[in-house]
Amino acid sequence: MKMSLLLAMLALSRGAVSVVTAFNITAISAANNASRLECWQLAAPPISGRGAVNFALGDFDQAFVGIIPPNTTAGTINNAEQVQYSLIMAGLAHISTPYSGLPAHLNDVWIKGGRYGMLIAADLKEVAAKGHITTFPGQERTIIAQFPYAGNKVPEHCVLHAGPCTDLDLLEL
Ligand SMILES: *[C@@H]1O[C@H](CO)[C@@H](O)[C@H](O)[C@H]1NC(C)=O
Ligand SMILES: *[C@@H]1O[C@H](CO)[C@@H](O)[C@H](O)[C@H]1NC(C)=O
Ligand SMILES: *[C@@H]1O[C@H](CO)[C@@H](O)[C@H](O)[C@H]1NC(C)=O
Repeated sequence: MKMSLLLAMLALSRGAVSVVTAFNITAISAANNASRLECWQLAAPPISGRGAVNFALGDFDQAFVGIIPPNTTAGTINNAEQVQYSLIMAGLAHISTPYSGLPAHLNDVWIKGGRYGMLIAADLKEVAAKGHITTFPGQERTIIAQFPYAGNKVPEHCVLHAGPCTDLDLLEL
């Protein structure tokens, strides 16, 4: 009786860990002094606990929530002011990186609020003189919680590929 319960628990926790093995996230990164989109896999390993598979995101400083009016379609070239993790909770963000030097289809991403509404912005001015453009073309407000990384520390990661994460990279989320 005790044994079978133990086995069931092991099966559950092993199942949970094997389902989500790594955390992938679209990043606005920089190369050759220009912003570019990349799909990052964070180095943080999956840790089972609290009924979840958990991935450490790092240490944040002075987080805030931004509320952006609907239909904000005028975008200017910008850089991340701080390295930050962004949680897009509602609305729609369109980010483009026209100066990356990459093929055009790798220079755009539309991020809807909700399940896949995550992004890391790391294209500080000093690494990307030619930045990115963000617009919020949704017909409702866009709500973004911003979590600046303490000391602008970029979380450890490897680059899965240039361009934003695709459905395949986010399959397990
Ligand atoms: C959104 O903005 C565009 C351009 O500024 C305008 O033509 C359009 O009517 C707006 N749509 C809504 C629903 O506000
Ligand atoms: C990036 O470009 C800016 C503006 O053209 C220039 O001032 C800066 O020195 C460049 N940085 C590097 C690392 O090449
Ligand atoms: C992250 O990407 C890897 C490689 O493409 C993939 O095997 C893994 O399932 C992805 N993780 C999630 C959470 O989708």
